[in-house]
Amino acid sequence: MTRSILILGGTADARILAGELAEDAGCRILLSMAGRTLSPVEQPVPMRSGGFGGTAGLADFIRAEDFDILVDATHPYAARMSANAVEAARLAGVPLVVLSRPAWQCQPGDRWQGVDTVEQAVTALGNESRRVFLALGRQELLPFEAAPRHSYLIRSVDPVDPPLKLANARYVTARGPFALDDEIRMLAENRIETVVSKNSGGSASYGKIEAARHLGLPVIMIERPRPLSEAPLNGAIVPDIATALTAIRHQLSLLENRGE
Ligand SMILES: NC(=O)c1ccc[n+]([C@@H]2O[C@H](COP(=O)([O-])OP(=O)(O)OC[C@H]3O[C@@H](n4cnc5c(N)ncnc54)[C@H](OP(=O)(O)O)[C@@H]3O)[C@@H](O)[C@H]2O)c1
Repeated sequence: MTRSILILGGTADARILAGELAEDAGCRILLSMAGRTLSPVEQPVPMRSGGFGGTAGLADFIRAEDFDILVDATHPYAARMSANAVEAARLAGVPLVVLSRPAWQCQPGDRWQGVDTVEQAVTALGNESRRVFLALGRQELLPFEAAPRHSYLIRSVDPVDPPLKLANARYVTARGPFALDDEIRMLAENRIETVVSKNSGGSASYGKIEAARHLGLPVIMIERPRPLSEAPLNGAIVPDIATALTAIRHQLSLLENRGE
């Protein structure tokens, strides 16, 4: 019997996981993206794009398309979608496997200042003019317009369009993974004094954090959002792709054993 798995994506982990699952015989995989990126990288499995219309919309989609398992492999800062996934899996009666990369931990030599929001990160830059590196999405960049005294180097996947209302902002578009040596060179050549980052976890964007440590630069770390759903989970929360594959295969064998 062909089993169907819906993966909520938007991350490199989701793409890799989808590719690995596609190699399992007898599985239909659909990878769902929010549709925010202008030129998304090619995916190894069939894809759909755009919101479902909240929790009920996602639950309806799971039922209508007969999915057996839901996988949440969204970014750790996509708190709304992750909360929707918990509720929708419960409503649709399917197990949920959540791939959640562990947050980076502060290492000796790191000079991190933790903040809860982007607005707090802007305040934490202080009153003195600083040279700041930002690797954030457009919505997260807007609050920096309130601090035009700093000069910014902004790196994003898509061009920031329209650009921010900031006189001292330069833009680069690039997609990770970013190597440590390149990140050290980029921060040094641009004489960056402070890095502002989300705690994304994983290796693809860790280079800038290691580079900041290497150069002795402070990092204003925007902490992860708190989970929006307290509902119990029928499934598993796993830290990496290998464990996600094991958890998904376990859920498939449970379905098989129950004869569903
Ligand atoms: N936030 C970040 O820092 C970040 C970084 C890298 C990649 N991403 C990716 O970008 C996407 C949007 O992030 P966000 O922070 O805006 O998420 P969010 O606030 O949690 O989600 C907002 C809404 O976008 C839709 N959506 C989100 N992910 C979706 C998916 N995989 N498939 C279909 N619809 C999706 C849902 O709309 P409906 O309620 O209408 O279903 C959701 O309610 C996510 O897929 C995430 O994995 C986010």
